[in-house]
Amino acid sequence: MDKRKIVFAGCGGITGAWMNALSAFDDVEVVGLCDLDPERIAAFEERWKVAPAAKGKDLERVIRDSGADTVFDCTIPEAHPLVTLTALECGCDVLGEKPMAPSIAEAKSMAAAAKKAGKTYAVIQNRRYQPAIRRFRRAIAEADLGALTTLDVDFYIGAHFGGFRAEMDHVLLLDMAIHTFDQARYLSGADPVSVFAADWNPSGSWYRHGAAAVAFFEMSNGLRFTYRGSWCSEGLNTSWEGDWRAVCEQGSIAWDGAGDVHGEREAGGESLIHDFAPLPIPDEEQLELTGHGGVIREFLDSLRNGTKPMTDCSDNIRSIAMVLAAVESAETGRPVEIAKEI
Ligand SMILES: NC(=O)c1ccc[n+]([C@@H]2O[C@H](COP(=O)([O-])OP(=O)(O)OC[C@H]3O[C@@H](n4cnc5c(N)ncnc54)[C@H](O)[C@@H]3O)[C@@H](O)[C@H]2O)c1
Repeated sequence: MDKRKIVFAGCGGITGAWMNALSAFDDVEVVGLCDLDPERIAAFEERWKVAPAAKGKDLERVIRDSGADTVFDCTIPEAHPLVTLTALECGCDVLGEKPMAPSIAEAKSMAAAAKKAGKTYAVIQNRRYQPAIRRFRRAIAEADLGALTTLDVDFYIGAHFGGFRAEMDHVLLLDMAIHTFDQARYLSGADPVSVFAADWNPSGSWYRHGAAAVAFFEMSNGLRFTYRGSWCSEGLNTSWEGDWRAVCEQGSIAWDGAGDVHGEREAGGESLIHDFAPLPIPDEEQLELTGHGGVIREFLDSLRNGTKPMTDCSDNIRSIAMVLAAVESAETGRPVEIAKEI
């Protein structure tokens, strides 16, 4: 079988999730490692027992010398545009970590470069490959409760990362909310129309900027999506997937982001508060591959079959547009429209 020849750009913490996933695949081979920090490359080689044909800081050279056809971009968010554009120019397909880019202009240029090169550039949105979110999504789709009118999520996790996150601007919106906003699109099938958002750094925060945020989105089909989140709240953590409520015309469904999905349907009555009946909830879907493994497998299969992966940049740009519009709203104090043509 022809193996995809992979260069990892960025050899830091998240590559563990990628390499664990790759261990189940026999159609990939790591041929190159690129990182600005040689110690990160050495640690990667040691941990995963790989002997790359090329390694170093210069991505173009590593791709050329290793004969790679695919780049896995695991660098920090600011580096994603340069890494992706370089990889595409060198004729590689790219699967990159979230978030796509720190600005919508850069995200657009990356999507345009992929199209021009006739290559695939897709983004890791590993939350889409979790059995629990798929169960909640099915519960909403199959409940027959009328239109989904409101989607609310709370995300509260006191996360002590250090590293690049401690220093970056709008850390919660840019580095974390991309998951939650993409989940909202995945759950509802709706696209963003506009957002009004604020972020701030609460006293006691161990981040430099924007560790807490709220955002109110208008979505297509009249759906409203609300988000409240913090990365510097101690105690009463939600799950990483968030604590969700979906409100439909005739009932509501809740998901704690882990194993609990439950709901109620309006069941008539004459009093102020009507009666409700519990909703039947579908069983959890069995997925062969979850998280990173699911997205990477779909990406590799799409290259073989000539199909578009679910998180292709042409779709994922609408999720990063939600993030960047929320950042703009937080900076200007005004609602921001999200262009339809994105
Ligand atoms: N999908 C998820 O659930 C998930 C979880 C954690 C992190 N991430 C994402 O993964 C990415 C990396 O995060 P991390 O936690 O591994 O960070 P990290 O700091 O541990 O690793 C990033 C690495 O990239 C290297 N790097 C930076 N700029 C580079 C460049 N121009 N060329 C080559 N190497 C470069 C750094 O030297 C570092 O070794 C981020 O985009 C982050 O948001 C995703």
